[in-house]
Amino acid sequence: MRRKVIAGNWKMNKLPNEAIQFIEELTPLVKDTENEVILCVPYTDLFYSLLTAQSTNIKIGAQNMHFEEKGAYTGEVSPNMLKSIGVQYVIIGHSERRQYFNETDESVNKKVKAALTNGLKPIVCVGETLEEREAGKTEEIITTQTALALEGLTNEQVKDIIIAYEPIWAIGTGKTATSEDANCSIKAIRNKICQIYGQNVSESIIIQYGGSVKSTNCQELFTMSDIDGGLVGGASLDAEEFSKIVNYNK
Ligand code: PGA
Repeated sequence: MRRKVIAGNWKMNKLPNEAIQFIEELTPLVKDTENEVILCVPYTDLFYSLLTAQSTNIKIGAQNMHFEEKGAYTGEVSPNMLKSIGVQYVIIGHSERRQYFNETDESVNKKVKAALTNGLKPIVCVGETLEEREAGKTEEIITTQTALALEGLTNEQVKDIIIAYEPIWAIGTGKTATSEDANCSIKAIRNKICQIYGQNVSESIIIQYGGSVKSTNCQELFTMSDIDGGLVGGASLDAEEFSKIVNYNK
């Protein structure tokens, strides 16, 4: 049985004092969950969040990184910088980065490799636009994005990755994919991984759903056969609401 992984993506929200307060509020609310709890916070909140989450079951992730170890890349943060302060997870290829910051399948692949080399677990985002969905291309788009993101990795490496299927039209819009549609897309991703890396890998890899997940729809989504939890944006900004999503099976 695959575990459920619930990750919050704060995007560009919360100052360090707000991050500390949030984690202090969340800690008692999620301490008994069997699900994995991750908060992906802005760079400036990482250190404070790591300290506050020490000796809790809350893990801390970043939202992006560069693929190089170091060098003349003004404004960038490297995988080993993240690792050195105790960060465990990193979101890679979020649609907002693909859309606004020129992230490509190629840079996503480089970042995934660099994250794994440095002992970080990547949460790799894939998803189709509304036009692509309406043109009947969903499966083709998301399986191609997945294959390109994971190109050149070993089976053991792929097992360490989390994939987040996030239909772009469902992000921050209040529109959620139906649980059947989300499950069907996630199955397609899993089948693609099975074709490339075999059944063992495809059955163990965690694939989340993301896009307007909230306390009122999470149970329906997370109990589908292939959905292994969620990547939660807006609803992860409130500790009580986020705890309800983490505790969806209580
Ligand atoms: P949302 O964002 O939950 O606010 O739709 C999800 C995401 O972008 O990861």
